[in-house]
Amino acid sequence: MKYRHIEKLGIDISAFGLGCMRLPMMKDEDGKDVVDEKKWVDIIRRCIDGGVNYLDTAYVYTGGLNEKYVGLALRDGYREKVYLATKLPLWDCDSKEYMYKTFEEQLTRLETDYIDFYLIHCLTGEKWKKMKELGVCGFLDDLKAKGKIKYACFSFHDNFDAFETIINEYPWDMCQLQFNYMDIENQAGLRGVKLAGEKAVPVVVMEGLLGGKLANVPSEVKEHFERANPDFSPVEWAFRWLCNFPQIATVLSGVATMEQAEDNLEIFDRCDIGIMSESELEVVAQAREIYKKRIKVDCTGCEYCMPCPAGVEIPRIFARWNYTYMYGIKDNSYKKLVDENKDASQCVSCRACMDKCPQGFDIPEKLKEAHEYFKT
Ligand SMILES: NC(=O)c1ccc[n+]([C@@H]2O[C@H](COP(=O)([O-])OP(=O)(O)OC[C@H]3O[C@@H](n4cnc5c(N)ncnc54)[C@H](OP(=O)(O)O)[C@@H]3O)[C@@H](O)[C@H]2O)c1
Repeated sequence: MKYRHIEKLGIDISAFGLGCMRLPMMKDEDGKDVVDEKKWVDIIRRCIDGGVNYLDTAYVYTGGLNEKYVGLALRDGYREKVYLATKLPLWDCDSKEYMYKTFEEQLTRLETDYIDFYLIHCLTGEKWKKMKELGVCGFLDDLKAKGKIKYACFSFHDNFDAFETIINEYPWDMCQLQFNYMDIENQAGLRGVKLAGEKAVPVVVMEGLLGGKLANVPSEVKEHFERANPDFSPVEWAFRWLCNFPQIATVLSGVATMEQAEDNLEIFDRCDIGIMSESELEVVAQAREIYKKRIKVDCTGCEYCMPCPAGVEIPRIFARWNYTYMYGIKDNSYKKLVDENKDASQCVSCRACMDKCPQGFDIPEKLKEAHEYFKT
């Protein structure tokens, strides 16, 4: 396992951080999804034995059960071997009392009396405003002063401007960002990673494989990577690209099986800062271009076409079509639009949208194509 020295915090963190959100489930006798406790404990402990020293959980994961099972896995001396990260849920947070009460509950669930990295979960610009008003900064300062948390942090899902505001308004010890070779312009993006580096705020990466999509890649991307180096899987390309960044403290990977855990332990043994050659960076840039060429329609989501007189959710349909086709996945979101009579088949070709669309492609025709794609 490679470790990254975090100068500001004076600690070393493993390049592979275990994201506990996707640990395995199983069916009980009634066919209900329940936590596969044995696999869960085995995977967590195997990762720690293999050198992982950063674990990420959250109050809300696994329907509220995640922290409890992480706590269970960390018995028998494992707690002392890791930096434990968990997060304050914001969805129902309406007071400082809520924050303290939730924090104490988290300590109980995790069977610990302190948290290493305590994150404000899923911050956006709007939520940050609200949390400041509720006194979250004082709450974090207080927990730190009492030694109940070591580091005050946030996880983030919004655009770069919101990120810039948040990172400038509190002396954060760490930030957690969605980042991978496809998301360089999405959310905080590459600019966010660089800004965090300038401010000496270490970055913890989430969704490094885009939730698994960069592991199960379309055949043209797979062949491209194989041509460049048959020894590296698409997963290794994605992790090497991330580990190359000096700003990144650890890459969370949410493993779902022991095989994936073993694979990642090996990969992160080979990945280090500055590991990518210029030609390898070019290989990843080309993979990104291959993905982009799979975009089906040049809709930018400006919504000038809306509202559609027939009720068609035009930008949502095109966004879903581009995304699912690009990554070679299917999902149920289109079916929901069909149920609500907002799908592409509702288009009556009135062409009202065409007068407003700045991109100039034939919207009714593209809607027909999208409908055919989702039907199959
Ligand atoms: N703070 C937040 O708002 C937030 C949001 C998202 C995530 N997180 C945290 O960040 C962690 C990481 O995010 P993530 O789980 O989305 O990470 P990810 O690494 O992008 O995706 C994890 C998925 O990648 C696949 N995978 C992982 N290792 C693999 C391997 N060696 N070979 C093949 N496939 C592999 C698996 O997909 P399959 O299941 O399809 O096999 C796994 O479920 C989460 O677990 C969670 O702790 C936080």
